[in-house]
Amino acid sequence: MNYRIRGGRALRGEVTVPGAKNSALHLLAASLLTDEPITLRNVPDLRDVRTQLALLEALGKRVEPLGEGAYRIAPGSPLASEAPGELVQKLRASFHVLGPLLARLGEAYVPLPGGDVLGPRPVDLHVGGLQALGAVIEVREGGVCARAPAQKLRPATISLPYPSVGATVHLALTAALVPGTTLIENPAREPEVDDVLAFLSALGAPARRREGRIEVQGQPKLRGAEHRVMPDRICAGTYLLAGAITRGELMVRCRPWHLRPFLDTLQAMGVPLQEFADGVAVRCEDLTLTSLRPVRVETQPYPGFPTDLHPPLTALLSLVPGESRIREGVFEDRFAYAAGLRALGARVRIRGREAIIEGVPRLYGTEVKVERDNRAGAALVLAALAAEGESRVCDEEEQIPRGYHRFAETLRDLGADIVEESLISTRHREEGE
Ligand code: UD1
Repeated sequence: MNYRIRGGRALRGEVTVPGAKNSALHLLAASLLTDEPITLRNVPDLRDVRTQLALLEALGKRVEPLGEGAYRIAPGSPLASEAPGELVQKLRASFHVLGPLLARLGEAYVPLPGGDVLGPRPVDLHVGGLQALGAVIEVREGGVCARAPAQKLRPATISLPYPSVGATVHLALTAALVPGTTLIENPAREPEVDDVLAFLSALGAPARRREGRIEVQGQPKLRGAEHRVMPDRICAGTYLLAGAITRGELMVRCRPWHLRPFLDTLQAMGVPLQEFADGVAVRCEDLTLTSLRPVRVETQPYPGFPTDLHPPLTALLSLVPGESRIREGVFEDRFAYAAGLRALGARVRIRGREAIIEGVPRLYGTEVKVERDNRAGAALVLAALAAEGESRVCDEEEQIPRGYHRFAETLRDLGADIVEESLISTRHREEGE
């Protein structure tokens, strides 16, 4: 899908962010832990979510859409122990079905995962944690085979050398079906992890944080449950940046306390924000971007500045006078946006894991290509919204719909001049008929 954007329109209005992708994908994997039906609400309509749903169906679940982002997931055919490569390769979080399948069936095989290309993304912490739970692991034919000797895993204390989000969730899911208490030390502290822990508790395996660790009381069998996916803090941050870069007035309904270091950064830049219990307003109508201040940011695991907001923040910084720097502290390569931003007139240099941004007075519309990272796609759309003239953001890899639910439609509702090219051709066809 490609987008035609005419820049220069201020965004105005209110937006309620959809359910969090990074929670929904893990909650869907958790459905494999039980043979009773589960219902998830506020599931975002994203390409990655559809891939994860297709994977559940391929593994034997029956997925019933209930409308408005709700899904009932119930047993269909007997669970399969092998995940199909074509689905797993599209999405990294699909790898997290390995532990649940292993705990259910005593054996599972999952090909190595895909997802955003953000430098090397190993699964050593996942595998090490499963081994600590007693799994025997064999890497073969581009995938991981896990076996539980005598069909039994055992509870363990797993100390993660790095607070990986994926590994924390994957191991908590698995531990929920290992009778006894498993402790995860140095776990990820992202709010999406807590959403999953709440769901595991609802399924009957009490899971909580205690003294900086996660404690999961695994059970031999879990029940069904209903759960509402938490709001997406990365979408919230992206819309706040869209409000700021277009010098608009936006109210973004979200959980502000999930956005602390991000909001602090915007405030340090001088972006006028107002926080409410259920949202954040950005009010930039009387502001010139040249009055904003440059910043230095390092992305870090939660509660640090989120890596997923690094690319869209760069779009705003490219219009802020002076030199800003963003050091990427989570992924080795998260700079897929740089070529596109430069084509729009931004001055962005990459030095190792750091982006150095010299603010320019204006950006100019042109054709740019989204590559490898859905957040890079958001960065290019934001920059195009602020650029003079018309831009074409080409998203042939369909990265943007991986992370953003109805992105163009939402921006259009807020006043942006953005059209999906498939809509343009449909309109031409209709006009011709
Ligand atoms: C999740 C999010 C992603 C976000 C990231 C960091 C989902 C579906 N995706 O990704 O949007 O950008 O958290 O907030 O929730 N690592 C290892 N070995 C491992 C696992 C991870 O070295 O076994 C490294 C990774 O290569 C990376 C870092 O740890 O450099 C962070 O990865 P992790 O926290 O696991 O991120 P994801 O779960 O992949």
